[in-house]
Order: sequence, then structure tokens, then C-alpha cells
Amino acid sequence: MESLILLVNTIQRACTVVGDYGGGNNALSSLWEALPSVAVVGGQSSGKSSVLESIVGRDFLPRGSGIVTRRPLVLQLHKTENGTEDYAEFLHLTKKKFTNFSLVRKEIEDETDRITGKNKQISPIPIHLSIYSPNVVNLTLIDLPGLTKVAVEGQPDTIVEDIESMVRSYVEKPNCLILAISPANQDIATSDAMKLAKEVDPTGDRTFGVLTKLDLMDKGTNALEVIEGRSYRLKYPWVGIVNRSQADINKNVDMMVARRKEREYFESSPDYGHLATRMGSEYLAKLLSKLLESVIRSRIPSILSLINNNIEELERELDQLGRPVAIDAGAQLYTILGMCRAFEKIFKEHLDGGRPGGAR
Ligand code: GDP
Ligand code: NA
Ligand code: MG
Repeated sequence: MESLILLVNTIQRACTVVGDYGGGNNALSSLWEALPSVAVVGGQSSGKSSVLESIVGRDFLPRGSGIVTRRPLVLQLHKTENGTEDYAEFLHLTKKKFTNFSLVRKEIEDETDRITGKNKQISPIPIHLSIYSPNVVNLTLIDLPGLTKVAVEGQPDTIVEDIESMVRSYVEKPNCLILAISPANQDIATSDAMKLAKEVDPTGDRTFGVLTKLDLMDKGTNALEVIEGRSYRLKYPWVGIVNRSQADINKNVDMMVARRKEREYFESSPDYGHLATRMGSEYLAKLLSKLLESVIRSRIPSILSLINNNIEELERELDQLGRPVAIDAGAQLYTILGMCRAFEKIFKEHLDGGRPGGAR
């Protein structure tokens, strides 16, 4: 049976294709709202891109100073059979298979500019990217613009609030898991990610605390207060990360080598050795995949009842238009109705037989 994570992503993509990410139609936007997701949140240079790249095990995100991520990136990871070659595909370019990941980076940049113009504007319209690789777990992550405190040259003065409200529109959804990234070499009390996460999820039930740059802390200090949950208590334990440094990036240190070095860092660390099996980006990826799958599974009944309501409403709407209806008025409604029926069927199959280990 198809992974629930991939199924949900299929629906998210369908919503994007039919209306602007569901915003154009009530049925789709309510469905989009109800689907569980994982959003990546953090201040600029907190290590967001680095965490995403280590989760994927590839170098593929635009980088640079300033606001690099200016549209949400919905990143869907598909695990493939061992021995197959990694490739990437964009929803807006489905005919093209990317095997060169620097071209993926270029396409994200170009596609960002296509909507926002070159003047560093932001746009809430997501870019959908799928990556197929034996080195990933099935997982969908939404990368969002980094939270910032000041506008730079050429940016509208409202950029700081614009970014925050875009990020907030994702993380305030009760079904959104928040991957909150904070750098260990800054006081956690000043973390943009934790500030926002605390506001929208005060009980910490759906926030994952991720602490990057552990290797950059002052000698003689460590982050155990945070990692062991004494600074911020969250439902899930904090995960510490050591990404590639800027020097590593300049030297083109391979991502797989970086993953191994990170593992070695924790295994040999006098401070974190006792937590080594629960640290690092590989562990984080597995944890998120497992959790997202189980959150989706637990929400199937409510998603199904929402889809049912949508179907009824769409049928009523079509009846009012009087069938058969003019192409332009009814065609989109028929498309959405067809999609909802298809989703209903697949979710029902999961509900009936999708338990791990076989049918109930
Ligand atoms: P973003 O702006 O949040 O996407 O941050 P980036 O992932 O681009 O990282 C910003 C800078 O911090 C880059 O130069 C990274 O190499 C560096 N960096 C990120 N995480 C770590 C880490 O864990 N250790 C070290 N030494 N450098 C890191
Ligand atoms: Na932060
Ligand atoms: Mg970045």
C-alpha cells in the first residue's frame, strides 16, 4: 500500500494544480488545512537549509546571505530501491527528470523569481519538489522563508512582518508539526523559531526542537540544558545536529561524509555520548517520517468526514447550477468532485486494510 505520507502529498499537489494551493475553492482549501504537514521554521542562518540537505543527503538548496527562500518549498521525499540513481522532479516541470542537483538549485531560484520578480519579494505560492533516492525516508517537509529582524536594501519595509505572517499561516494550523530550528551558539531565549512555536503551540505538543551548530559552542559549555528539555519542555525530545560548516561547504565535503562525521561527533562526545543514538540528522529524518505517518493515520477518520462533507457540498453546488452545466462554470467543480471521490476511496482503503502487518 502506498505510504500515507505520499498520499497526502499527492492531495496537496492536486490542490496546488487546481486552485492556488486550494485557496481558490472552499472544498480544497478546507482539505489543505486539514492535512498534516511538517513545516521548517527558524531564523536566518540558523541552519535550516543545512538540516534539510542532510535529511535528503544531497546538496540542492539555493544558498547565500539575505532572504534566499522566498516561496514555500514543499519537499516530498520518496525512498527508492537500493542501487537506483537519485533524481528530482518539479510539479511545474513534470516532464523533466533532474539528476544533476545543482540544476535543481538553479530551477528553485528561477522558479522563485518567476513569481516574485527579482526584487526579493516573497510569495505564498509553494514550489513542489519531489526527490527520489535510496538514501531518504518517505517524508514531506515544507521549507519556509527564514524569520528576520530587518529589511535589507531593495526590500519593502513590510518584509519582516510579511515573512512572519506567511510562516505563521502554516504553523498555526493545528495539524502542522513544527520543526523549530535554533542555533546552539546563540541564547535559546532569543530563538526566533522557539518564540513563534511557543505562541502557536504553547503546550509544545507538535513542536520538534532542533539544535544546530553544537560544534560551534564556546569551549567548556554544552547544550544539555536545552537538549535534555530543561530550558523548553516539549512533548518530543530535542534533537541535536552538527551540519557542515561553511569551510566544509567551500571544500565541497560530500553529504554522506558529513552524515558520518556527524555520527562520529556524537558517539565520541563527552557531553552527548549518552544520547548519541537520538542525535543527528539521520535520526531526525526517521523520527519525523514515523511520526508524520502516525499523525496522518490518526486523522484519517476526520479527513474522511471532511471529504464526505465536501462531496455533498459540491454535489449541491452542481445541482444548483443545473446539470449539465456550462464548461467554465462546472468543469472545475467536476474536477474537484472527482478528486475528492478518488481521495475518499484511497483513505477508506487505508482505514480498512492499511494497518502495518496486514488487514484487521
Ligand atoms: P539557513 O539560513 O537557516 O538556511 O542556514 P544555512 O543552512 O544556510 O546555514 C548558515 C551557515 O551556518 C552556513 O555557513 C552553514 O555552513 C553554517 N552551519 C549550519 N549549521 C551548522 C552546524 O551545525 N555547524 C557548523 N559548524 N556550521 C553550521
Ligand atoms: Na532561530
Ligand atoms: Mg536557507
